[in-house]
Amino acid sequence: MNQPLDAFSYREGTLHAGEVPVSEIADAVGTPTFVYSAEAIRSNYRRIESAFAPLGAHLHYAVKASSNLHLLRLLREQGAGMDVVSGGELERAWLAGTAMKDIVFAGVGKTDAEQRAALDGRSSPLRDDAERLGGDNIESRGPVGLFNVESESELEVLAEVAADLGLVARACLRVNPDVDARTHEYTTTGLEENKFGVSWTRVPEIFEAFRDVPSVSLVGLHVHIGSPVREIEPYESAVKVLLRLIDTLEKAGDTVSVLDLGGGWPMNYTDDQSPGIEAFAEALIPLLEERTKNGLQIVLEPGRSILANSGVLLTRVQHVKVGRAKTFVICDAGMHTLIRPAFYRAFHFAWPVQVESRHVPPGAAEHIDLPGLVPCDIVGPICETGDFLARGRDLPPMQRGDLVAIFSAGAYGMSMSSNYNDHGRSAEVLVDGERAVVINERQKLSALLETESSPREL
Ligand code: LLP
Repeated sequence: MNQPLDAFSYREGTLHAGEVPVSEIADAVGTPTFVYSAEAIRSNYRRIESAFAPLGAHLHYAVKASSNLHLLRLLREQGAGMDVVSGGELERAWLAGTAMKDIVFAGVGKTDAEQRAALDGRSSPLRDDAERLGGDNIESRGPVGLFNVESESELEVLAEVAADLGLVARACLRVNPDVDARTHEYTTTGLEENKFGVSWTRVPEIFEAFRDVPSVSLVGLHVHIGSPVREIEPYESAVKVLLRLIDTLEKAGDTVSVLDLGGGWPMNYTDDQSPGIEAFAEALIPLLEERTKNGLQIVLEPGRSILANSGVLLTRVQHVKVGRAKTFVICDAGMHTLIRPAFYRAFHFAWPVQVESRHVPPGAAEHIDLPGLVPCDIVGPICETGDFLARGRDLPPMQRGDLVAIFSAGAYGMSMSSNYNDHGRSAEVLVDGERAVVINERQKLSALLETESSPREL
């Protein structure tokens, strides 16, 4: 399940998710709609789990990739813990049935209130609504299993908040290893010039400074160098920096029992191969195996590698405009639905949902060589030139009313979508074999207007 078309197939010229023609989904719930394959999610999860099984690694799904409660529940059923980066994600993870001890709370700008809610359910913003939303015993839910702390300032506040509650917060320090992940500059996180973590050079002194602080227990180190990381070497380099640090810390008398290696494992957006998860595991296991036998717990935070190719975005063509330079296929999805092409110039394979047999795509690639294709840009309705989903593609001829599938949209699609130009957010559907379930209704305009309905004097 590593290629864009693995979980979805063209049968008799129609794209299917599992046994369900996606055109039926679009007809029933409208467009734009994200469609996820439960089978692909399970299979991707199992693949990562078994690749890292020799290390007994704990998998914490990175909720930011796609945070629908029902997807989180599906991942819970597979045994996943959750990696969250905000108070909102934390509450979703908990509502999806994750025990607080199985939640890792990361994020560079946690507020005092978020830290408090992560330690004590009585401070949760959902305190009065939890029962109605399906969460039990919020007041006694206990603290998260781990904080991944990104600065000394954050560590100080965490110590204060925990002391105030009479608790001990368990924490890993996020290390900035100054290693280049060689990915898009906006998703490179492990260089000194990036805002993430503390410089590897300062880690020993921070451990020392907090050794005797009773309300925080620094149990380990965290690193995440970027996403997606397509090469193995930067991972190896980062892990080596961390292992050297562990040795230094242990010499100084600290115990390091957790090593959280973050996420960033790649998934293919075309049929080209970046190394599979097994290749990453193969390179990392020899570095870590001995230590895990001696009690070091490895934590991984995969997001994209589980979700990206488990989802497609369905959009309907509203107009076709044949310009002098090219043909514009104008759809109801755009940068407000899937921002990755506009924001990172990311490539997503795009193809009509219903095609003649000669136009069934042989796979996902930047250039498809079939007869009778037309050069097009697939664009959205937003008033920005940067509003495109796919540019400069050869595609089967399309007309108003046709459906288009944007592949590999399961991660960082819905979760990064917005209400720009006052569009409601998309519907989400989960397919499992022959079943298709609407797991998120399309957002109504009335929901967008509600918070503006009663102006009040301060
Ligand atoms: N752990 C940490 C600390 C992270 O910052 C991230 C992603 C992950 C885990 C999960 O990484 P993954 O396994 O999904 O690659 N919006 C961008 C990706 C940003 C990733 C942010 N952090 C995109 O659409 O490509």
